[in-house]
Amino acid sequence: MAMFDKLLANLRASKKTIVFTEGTDARILSAADRLLKEDLMGVILCGSAEEVAAAAAAGGFDVSKATVLDPATYPEMDALVAQMAELRKGKMTEEECRKALTKSNYFGTMLVKAGKADALLGGATYSTADTVRPALQIIKTKKGSSLVSSSFILFREKDGKEETIAMGDCAINLGYSDKLDKDGNVVQTAAQQLAEVAVETARTAACFGIDPKVAVLSFSTYGSGKGGTVQLSHDAVLAARELDPNLVIDGEFQFDAAVSAEVAKTKCPDSKVAGQANTFIFPMIEAGNIGYKIAQRLGGFEAYGPILQGLNAPINDLSRGCVADEVYKMAIITAGMA
Ligand SMILES: CC(C)(COP(=O)(O)OP(=O)(O)OC[C@H]1O[C@@H](n2cnc3c(N)ncnc32)[C@H](O)[C@@H]1OP(=O)(O)O)[C@@H](O)C(=O)NCCC(=O)NCCS
Repeated sequence: MAMFDKLLANLRASKKTIVFTEGTDARILSAADRLLKEDLMGVILCGSAEEVAAAAAAGGFDVSKATVLDPATYPEMDALVAQMAELRKGKMTEEECRKALTKSNYFGTMLVKAGKADALLGGATYSTADTVRPALQIIKTKKGSSLVSSSFILFREKDGKEETIAMGDCAINLGYSDKLDKDGNVVQTAAQQLAEVAVETARTAACFGIDPKVAVLSFSTYGSGKGGTVQLSHDAVLAARELDPNLVIDGEFQFDAAVSAEVAKTKCPDSKVAGQANTFIFPMIEAGNIGYKIAQRLGGFEAYGPILQGLNAPINDLSRGCVADEVYKMAIITAGMA
């Protein structure tokens, strides 16, 4: 698939190391075997050496080239605890950090923070929240970002043509509201937050070879409807243009105006995005999560994500229903973005 070309080129240009938090899971071991055979990245598996070896033998996987790290016996645990306690000063005690680090979601995240790995992939058994929370608490937002969000990359082959689109945020932010300082002054509007999601989703899209044309979605096109989050979508377009003047973005649009040239001709003929959008921004997580799943289940798209954006290091979450091939591809995405 052409959408992986850039990521594979990145991986071949500089070898990265990925940490898998669920080192005994058969799907993880199968993907790790394949990644190591193809020499795409270094692999760290979290778990006890005996249990990883037993699970690998049971599935017939060769992970002999992986590094297995067990939080129960990790020789540098004291240093990791001290580093985490410093990072979480005032929010978690040293004892709480030590306890958290017995779990591989926190342990794996700290391995990234400590520079032992470049990227992390988890969530084969952990929930999204339990995979993402340690990243939010420890890895934090990158410089210039105020929030972490996510996108899905959707791919299908139709009539002999490859089609790749991006959607955000379908998985992380439960809502957008104005951020106030202690005196009640607005320091960041909800629209500025959604604008940041749009800019980051466009950047993620570009990593997959998409030339982003970004539509901010709504149930209204250019003010045809009122109420709900129409104003938020409208204002987010303006805020995104301020944030990144080179971004090709427009809205607010109904989905049909965003993708159908015919509908765009009647509803918004002068737009440079309407009718040809390939990067879609949802005003709320419900719309985004339902929307990408409709594309996946009824539209025949393969869905990759949620791909986290705005973090200081690439950390991604798997669906608990994932299969080994998805783990393999998500590992390429995650390490390729490092
Ligand atoms: C991501 C999520 C787990 C965070 O929730 P939470 O742990 O309750 O978050 P909290 O408000 O307690 O914040 C925890 C920390 O993360 C930070 N944080 C929370 N959301 C953040 C965001 N979007 N960007 C950056 N930082 C964020 C907080 O500032 C806080 O940092 P601190 O502890 O250093 O002060 C939550 O938003 C969530 O459940 N999202 C939906 C996940 C989901 O189920 N998706 C659908 C499946 S794909």
